[in-house]
Amino acid sequence: MSTEMSRLEPDLAAKAAATSGSGVWHSTPIPGVLRRLHLADGPHGIRQQLEEGDHLGIGSSVPATCFPPAVGLGTTWNVDLVQRVGAALGTEASAMGVDVVLGPGMNIKRSPLCGRNFEYVSEDPHVTARIAAALVEGVQSEGVGACVKHFAANNQETDRMRSSSDVDERTLREIYLPAFEEVIRTTDPAMVMCSYNRLNGVYTSQDPWLLTTLLREEWGFEGAVVSDWGAVVDRVEAVRAGLDLEMPPSGTDDRIVDAVKRGELDDSVLDTVVERLVRVQDRVTTDTSRSPEHEAHQALAREAATEALVLLKNEGEALPLVPGRSIAVVGEFARTPRYQGGGSSHMVPTRVTGALDAFDEVAEEFPVRFAPGFTLDGTAAPNLAEEAVALAEECDTTVLFLGLPEALESEGFDRTDIDLPAEQVELLARIRRVSERVVVVLSNGGVVSVADWQGDADAVLEGWLLGQEGGAATVDVLTGAVSPSGRLTETIPLKLSDHASYLNFPGERGHVRYGEGVFVGYRHFDTLDRPVAYPFGFGLTYTTFDYSDLEVIEDGTDAWTVALTVANSGTRAGQEVVQLYTGLTQEYPTRPVRELRGFAKVALEPGESARVELAVRGRDLSTWDAEHHRWSLVAGTYTVSVGASSRDIRLSGEVVSSGDRFVPPLTRSSTIEDWRANAIGGPVLAEIRAGMEELDSVPEELLRMADSMPIVALSTFGMGVTEEMVDLLVADVEARRQAAIGRGEVTG
Ligand code: BGC
Repeated sequence: MSTEMSRLEPDLAAKAAATSGSGVWHSTPIPGVLRRLHLADGPHGIRQQLEEGDHLGIGSSVPATCFPPAVGLGTTWNVDLVQRVGAALGTEASAMGVDVVLGPGMNIKRSPLCGRNFEYVSEDPHVTARIAAALVEGVQSEGVGACVKHFAANNQETDRMRSSSDVDERTLREIYLPAFEEVIRTTDPAMVMCSYNRLNGVYTSQDPWLLTTLLREEWGFEGAVVSDWGAVVDRVEAVRAGLDLEMPPSGTDDRIVDAVKRGELDDSVLDTVVERLVRVQDRVTTDTSRSPEHEAHQALAREAATEALVLLKNEGEALPLVPGRSIAVVGEFARTPRYQGGGSSHMVPTRVTGALDAFDEVAEEFPVRFAPGFTLDGTAAPNLAEEAVALAEECDTTVLFLGLPEALESEGFDRTDIDLPAEQVELLARIRRVSERVVVVLSNGGVVSVADWQGDADAVLEGWLLGQEGGAATVDVLTGAVSPSGRLTETIPLKLSDHASYLNFPGERGHVRYGEGVFVGYRHFDTLDRPVAYPFGFGLTYTTFDYSDLEVIEDGTDAWTVALTVANSGTRAGQEVVQLYTGLTQEYPTRPVRELRGFAKVALEPGESARVELAVRGRDLSTWDAEHHRWSLVAGTYTVSVGASSRDIRLSGEVVSSGDRFVPPLTRSSTIEDWRANAIGGPVLAEIRAGMEELDSVPEELLRMADSMPIVALSTFGMGVTEEMVDLLVADVEARRQAAIGRGEVTG
């Protein structure tokens, strides 16, 4: 071995080792350069395992505050609150010596069946981006890194480590990537976690387009990319593509060393990895001497859970509960709450408050009696049902806690239906027959169907998974101590098969085709005007809100402010989530009828009003042009609507954009129609046509037939047009286009 080699080798070995972990939760240090970084789940509560642990949520962890998982944080629509939750997570992580929190999860809920929907925010990229950005900002404000995940198009658990998400370019850009893009551009997260799946056939852990071209070169990401746990298939390919840290370690560092020695991997790629990890290390400043502030965070967990609850139905003012009336609390979930999901995010809370415990605190005004009604493991228990029905009969109101037991949804597998367990629905029907007033409280991570049974309930309160203080929050809302203010971040369909993803989920033979394209969630239901149980953005409260005085102010080129007044016209304090949607009627490309582009949550006392301002930018009106690989803003009059859900539009206005004036290049293969539509080529073609008198006698419909022909095909028509003439025309039009671009008249 040469001296040069022996000097190089330790260095190379150390750098190669740094591209992988030194244990399930730690990176590999390089003495004097890089310290060991400690990574831990999870997105809604720190899951620090002191032993080597596991990433499957099986082993124990150090107690920490369990906030509502992303499903609940999302339905708060409250970015300030979520930022405070993020800061609390950051504080606890810092106190525990955790450098990077593995979250937030920000994949789009493409199908209600995805087993991990509880870890994701929404079916919509805008609300996902805003909630995730708030979490990242909060975590990072405490000197801890955040790691957004799972990049990208990881929207199911079935065959998650191999399946290819086959997504067309426009759909990727408009639905599955924008939340990542916005969070990366605006919050500079320390890390990005690639996903397990393949994207259009390529493992995301070794996709150079995803990890380098898009993430770094286009979006400017400067942090490090970590693999999902066990997602690396080919170490060398992965590092070459832009992956910095393989987790957990596979013990194959020699493959990296060999690849460098063989000249298959440039040594400088390893230097870049080390630089990126150093950057992560330099920005995190954990402080194990600080207090984790568990007491304060418990109150915050309760506040967040309170805002996450969505009141779906409230007939005859069944809610809030009236003091002094007798209440039957039925359902095991009231005693044994389901407050988080299963898998890697499953952590140990500092304590758990169930609804039954919380009712104890208000027992004087709201005395309750309890019957479990059913078992959580699904074992038949007819006596429990009998006892619950008997109790309901004796009380004025029954509050029935229904939901999905833990075994029915988790990371690692998808659901096969969206139904509540049959015995629970049956119990509700029996209670309806004996109880004057029935309030259903739901606990579920993914959407459950309500259509078949909600007629048996006077009120339905969707409680998702609410974290450790969910029981207290639920009682706060039931008793009216707080008005419900959560709004749906996903449509509740009438039935599963109504969903756009239904025929293409979860795919087969290693591929899942995103056949519905951009028509995900409400974009599908609203565009086709299909009935739903509850629309995106929906949620009731104990008061009412009026919208008035819409004003659209032009702030500059393709920049507007939409202002309106929202007033609390009821008798209780409450919060409204004002939502802004944009749309454009056009034939091509087909667009969703409306898309969420802004929102604000406003707290108002009775009689109080506030002026709300929401921004609209050119990008909000753009679609992705897959032919030219760019955002396209067409000139037009766009609708801007504001309302209380995607189906409850209260006010509408318009904004007029003159578009981006993009003129694509024309070639000999561009169709006659492309030529006619082209701002430079169109007039030139029209001029030529005007000179061809022999065409005057050709019927219009025959001329239209030519529209779909590549222009070069004219040379085969015996009209005296040759291929050379077409090429000259192409060159002439291209020269004119370049000149127009140079003069700033068009863009190209
Ligand atoms: C999950 C990640 C998680 C990691 C570490 C994986 O199974 O997909 O979300 O952060 O484990 O626990």
